[in-house]
Amino acid sequence: MNSADDHLISLETAANLTSEIVDQSLLESHDTSFVVYDYRKLEEKLNLVRNSFPSFWKHATAIKANPLAKIIKHIGQSGNGLEAASYEEIWLAQKAKAPFIIWDSPAKSEEEISLVFNEASNIIINANSLYELKALCDRDANDNIQLGLRINPEMSLSSMSSMTVGSTGSKFGEPISNAADIVNYFKKSGLNLGLHIHASSQNNNLKESVSAVKRICELALEIGLNRISYIDIGGGFPADYGFEKTVEISKYSALLRDECPILFNESVDVYTEFGRYYHANAGFHVSRINEVKAFPSQQTLTNHLGADMFLRESYQPGKWEHRLGIMNKHFKLISEAVIKTDVGGPLCFGGDYLAKNVSLPPATNKDYLIIMDTGANSFALWSMHCSRTFPKVIGINQNGTPFILKKRQALEDIEKFWS
Ligand SMILES: Cc1ncc(COP(=O)(O)O)c(C=O)c1O
Repeated sequence: MNSADDHLISLETAANLTSEIVDQSLLESHDTSFVVYDYRKLEEKLNLVRNSFPSFWKHATAIKANPLAKIIKHIGQSGNGLEAASYEEIWLAQKAKAPFIIWDSPAKSEEEISLVFNEASNIIINANSLYELKALCDRDANDNIQLGLRINPEMSLSSMSSMTVGSTGSKFGEPISNAADIVNYFKKSGLNLGLHIHASSQNNNLKESVSAVKRICELALEIGLNRISYIDIGGGFPADYGFEKTVEISKYSALLRDECPILFNESVDVYTEFGRYYHANAGFHVSRINEVKAFPSQQTLTNHLGADMFLRESYQPGKWEHRLGIMNKHFKLISEAVIKTDVGGPLCFGGDYLAKNVSLPPATNKDYLIIMDTGANSFALWSMHCSRTFPKVIGINQNGTPFILKKRQALEDIEKFWS
């Protein structure tokens, strides 16, 4: 673990918060697992992003990383916009009263587009292709809507393949190799349009991310800045999971300032759409350990969170690591000798492991598992496999006081879903 980890919630703090949650009687006996989300960490990140970039930049938060209604409402009220990857997310963003919404869905139906044109206000629509942009521009102009085009920079990026959306052949955006057509359309349309890029997620190579953004800045210059209404540089900034060297967001800003000066001189509006970075470190999960199987050189645990909660961790073994800890029944961290451990979930299939071959203290079925840095892209990807109920979510407010942010899902909801 690196030394600059003071922005991470420590395992000790997570254990103390758990103890407080129990003391305040926020859990019931059927809460075999629960999620904790600390608003103080979210605030820290919202401020860090605002302070790292010029004050005229506008920041949206990607809903898909954490769609909890109360959290996105909090974000909307704090002045950030929301990035929606589906019509349903626009609906959530409208309920959250976000000051503006960016709609980036790669598959927008005709019906959804009509609804947005008729009902939505303060919305930016990033078309996924030149074809889609032309169709949007052919509609009656709506003063509440700004239109732009997502560009695929067609680069080979070092982030993992499932997180890379900016390579040749990608389904995302208009390929930059069609630059001539793009420039031609932007110049001839007589409209002011935006340019958008989101090349990858959780990419620790900032130089690559900056060079992807640079490609759309060059395109903007070729079109002429008088025709460009905004540049949206997307999200993708990596979260710190406590294993690799921390990447500072101020460094990203400094690199962008060097390579993409047009983003800093107020010649165009600039938008960002970070998701994971805001949320990941604000969350952790706690689960009772249901069973421990002891083998000569390893233990295998079964807990109440698996591939339903941690889809990526389970289906891409070894690629999404979290800091893990074991607490005893008094919510004290156990830090004695470690043993090779496989951490199994509650689902009835062979791939249901959220970690394998990790080092943890010997555990018993009276203990608890803590899984850290889970505020983004964990419960947001919730799966109904085996029809388990979505656990309770406990919020930690600005004063450090725990409260029930979301109730555990009712059994009736499961029946309703499948009916
Ligand atoms: C278009 C778009 N914008 C923003 C984001 C947020 O990315 P991240 O959570 O990596 O910051 C995503 C994530 O996939 C995305 O597809």
